[in-house]
Amino acid sequence: MCGIVAYTGNQPAKEILIEGLKRLEYRGYDSSGIFIANNSSPYLARAVGKVAELERQVWNSAPDGAAGIAHTRWATHGKPSEVNAHPHADCGSKLYLVHNGIIENYLLLKKRLQEAGHTFKSQTDTEVLAHLIEANYQGNLPAAVQKALMQVQGTFGIAAMHIDHPESIVVARRGSPIILGIGEKVSLAASDASALAQHTDKVVFLEDNEVATLEPGKFTITTLDNRSVSRGTTNLDWNIESMDRGSFPHYMLKEIFEQPEAVENALRGRVNHAEAVAKLGGLESVQDRLLQARHLIIVSCGTSYYAGLLGRYVMETLTDLTVETELASEFRYRKLNIRQGTAVLAISQSGETADTLAALREAKRKGALVLGLVNVVGSTITRETHAGVYSHAGIEVGVASTKSFTSQLTILTLMALLIGRSRDLSYEDGHEIIRALEQVPDQIREILKQAGKIRELAEKYCHSDHFLFVGRKFQYPIALEGALKLKEIAYIHSEGYAAGEMKHGPIALIDPKFPTLALALEDASYERVVSNMQEIRAREGKIIAITTEGNTKLGSLVDDLIYVPRTHEAVAPLLTVVPLQLFAYYCGVLLGRDVDKPRNLAKSVTVE
Ligand code: M6R
Repeated sequence: MCGIVAYTGNQPAKEILIEGLKRLEYRGYDSSGIFIANNSSPYLARAVGKVAELERQVWNSAPDGAAGIAHTRWATHGKPSEVNAHPHADCGSKLYLVHNGIIENYLLLKKRLQEAGHTFKSQTDTEVLAHLIEANYQGNLPAAVQKALMQVQGTFGIAAMHIDHPESIVVARRGSPIILGIGEKVSLAASDASALAQHTDKVVFLEDNEVATLEPGKFTITTLDNRSVSRGTTNLDWNIESMDRGSFPHYMLKEIFEQPEAVENALRGRVNHAEAVAKLGGLESVQDRLLQARHLIIVSCGTSYYAGLLGRYVMETLTDLTVETELASEFRYRKLNIRQGTAVLAISQSGETADTLAALREAKRKGALVLGLVNVVGSTITRETHAGVYSHAGIEVGVASTKSFTSQLTILTLMALLIGRSRDLSYEDGHEIIRALEQVPDQIREILKQAGKIRELAEKYCHSDHFLFVGRKFQYPIALEGALKLKEIAYIHSEGYAAGEMKHGPIALIDPKFPTLALALEDASYERVVSNMQEIRAREGKIIAITTEGNTKLGSLVDDLIYVPRTHEAVAPLLTVVPLQLFAYYCGVLLGRDVDKPRNLAKSVTVE
């Protein structure tokens, strides 16, 4: 969603800001803008569409000022247009501001400001902030920002500049991340650490209701009510290479191919072979409470929700926990049975998803032990949970979650192993899981060798208007994930179903033009999935099956087959999801979709 970059230092800000915006493009946006404080003539440019459009304007006309702010906007209030793009200015064109989040009381504030004589140009909620700060400005920008934000309801991450103080940038946050990056004679701020990585590894995470003032190489922080805050910098271990596509045509394909390493990284140092148990350092501080828990609620959204669904099957198989999975966006509307012994696990790649964050806050308020399974280091969810585990998938740029999903599944299995081995999971059974997990990276490498064949299948099927994905038990969440991938990347309508549910309705849709992808591994559900496939076949539906290597029994029941290596049934989803990701990817490419940045989507969804 929206992205912020700010820079004050000793080099031309335009290059650093445009580069930063490009780093944020993966989050999804529809317009962008930049302000450069330049003593004689401050510069503002905004453009609809890609950052490349803004870049063209900037190279043609921007001055070399050494401080500025920039933004990518994902429209919420007011359509994508130049006038609605950020930065927004006050009436006197002295103050410029970019904003992520939503100002809930903007209509009321706007009315008051209009009555006081302010003139608005855009339809955005953001513009009220520029005027509100102007109304409170008496020569001191941080003080004006504090006073203005005290009147605001809603969420914000902002960066503001005033032409009276061309080297200073004031940033603030509530519910929307802002990270400061401090280097030698340069200071930066961004809504996403990936925009800072090239410049410094020294960062400061701003907390809710804090305001920071940046000058080249230094910063100060206060609370909104002007109490000073002392906070040192944290060193972040960036892996800049993982932010480049290398020889891959798209980030999504690169990230699919990075899954063997992602699973290796998720496992590294986390297995105790001697005891057949997992070692999860991030959970050690709460291990006693966790091992005594009787009830686990997993909350998450999108692909992370499907990881949670699978986590439930795995936890129920390996432990005696009662496990519920809940869509984070629905969590607060349920009467939750949070009692002593309830743990809540929030799963999120970005660690910034607003619904997941709201759910974990609610769970915390009700006294649950709140844990996180997050990829992005230092993100808001990691800082609000009692304890957690990083998935170590590396930076995921493609909007579609791929390697973060397989990393999540790996860690959920390790968590189940940790809890299960403290209860009645045997040493042998624990070992079997570990053995299976450790084979996954090489097994994924084998599956990736079939990319060419999967592309051919995509050529054959990508013009279908609809698709059904079916599976049972451990493969049911993978059916849901396969359908989500095809929807978001190829824009093909697809549904994921528990195979046994077909005959309760969806089978009415089946005809020769409505193909089904069936997850039919030779596991405990195999015979029943085959029966469901026969029901589809009897209605002349086309079937692609994913089955276990060496299974020659499907014969004429299917039109096409993809094989995956044999493994433990609880670990098999780590394999079966890979061909589905590739299938969605190739369908998207063949249909000319923007697979790394599908329409209407954002990498991290920071509004509820
Ligand atoms: O960052 P999160 O894991 O919390 O994000 C949750 C969903 O927004 C995300 O998984 C989304 O569904 C992806 N686009 C799926 O590929």
